Amino acid sequence: MWEYSDKVKEHFLNPRNVGVVENADGIGEVGSMSCGDALKLTFKLDENEIITDVKFQTFGCASAIASSSALTEMMIGKTLSEAEKITNDDIVAFLGGLPKEKMHCSVMGQEALEKAIACYRGVPVEEKEGEIVCECFGVTDLEIQRALKEHNLSAVEDVTNYIKAGGGCGKCHERIQELINEFKGHEPVIDKKPEKLSNIKKIKLIEETLEREIKPALKKDGGDIELVDVDGSKIFVKLQGACSSCSAAQITLKEFVEKKLCEFVSPDLVVEEVS
Ligand code: FES
Repeated sequence: MWEYSDKVKEHFLNPRNVGVVENADGIGEVGSMSCGDALKLTFKLDENEIITDVKFQTFGCASAIASSSALTEMMIGKTLSEAEKITNDDIVAFLGGLPKEKMHCSVMGQEALEKAIACYRGVPVEEKEGEIVCECFGVTDLEIQRALKEHNLSAVEDVTNYIKAGGGCGKCHERIQELINEFKGHEPVIDKKPEKLSNIKKIKLIEETLEREIKPALKKDGGDIELVDVDGSKIFVKLQGACSSCSAAQITLKEFVEKKLCEFVSPDLVVEEVS
C-alpha cells in the first residue's frame, strides 16, 4: 500500500484545471493508453507570454492526476520561460512527495510541459536520440543515462519507478543494469552473496547506521528516530519530533532511512513505522 501526502490526496480528489483549453497556444501529449498512463496538457498565453489558462486530461492513477493538477497550478501566472524551468522534482516537492514507485507520473508532467512549449514555439518535437533500450515503453539509453544522473539512481527498479523503462516484459533489465554499472564506473557484480549477519551483529550495525548516517540528518530538520524492534529483515522504528507529524514521513522512511540501512547493513531490509 502506497502512502500519499495530504496534498497528493487533495489534488487527486479535487483536481484543478481538468479539460482542454479552447484554441490553445501549446499542446503537449505524452504516454499512451496501452501503457496505462497518458497526459494531454494545453495552455493559453497573453501578449506578454504569461500563461493565463492551462488544462489537462489524463488517463492514469492517483499520482498521475495529482501530478498533472499540481503542474497546472504551478504554471498559471508564470511566463513561458519561467514555466520551462519546472522540473519533475519541483512537482514532487509541490505535492509533499510521491511514492518512489510513482515518480514516473511527475516525469510525465515534465515531458508534457516540454512538448507543449515546443509546440507553441513551432519547434518540431525532437526525435528521440539514442538507442531504444526498453521496447515496451520506447525508452532510450540516453534517457536512462539522464535519469541516472539527475536522480542518482542505482537500481533497475529505481529506473522503472522514474521513467517506466523495465516495467513491462523485463527483457531490457540486463541492458539497464549495464547502463547503471557504466554510470557508476564499475563492472557488474555477479552473484556476490551478502555476508550473513548474526542477529546481534545486525542490530549493532543498524544502531551504528542510525547514529552515524540517519539521526544527524533528521535532527537538522528537528526530527529524530528510535529503533523499536528487529524481526528478521523487518526493522520497526518510531519517528520523533518534527518527523512524526511530517506529511512526507513515509517518503523519508522509505527513501532515506530504508535506503541507508540497506546500503550499510543489508540490502533486504524493510523499514516500518510503529506508532
Ligand atoms: S523491453 Fe523493457 S520492459 Fe519490455
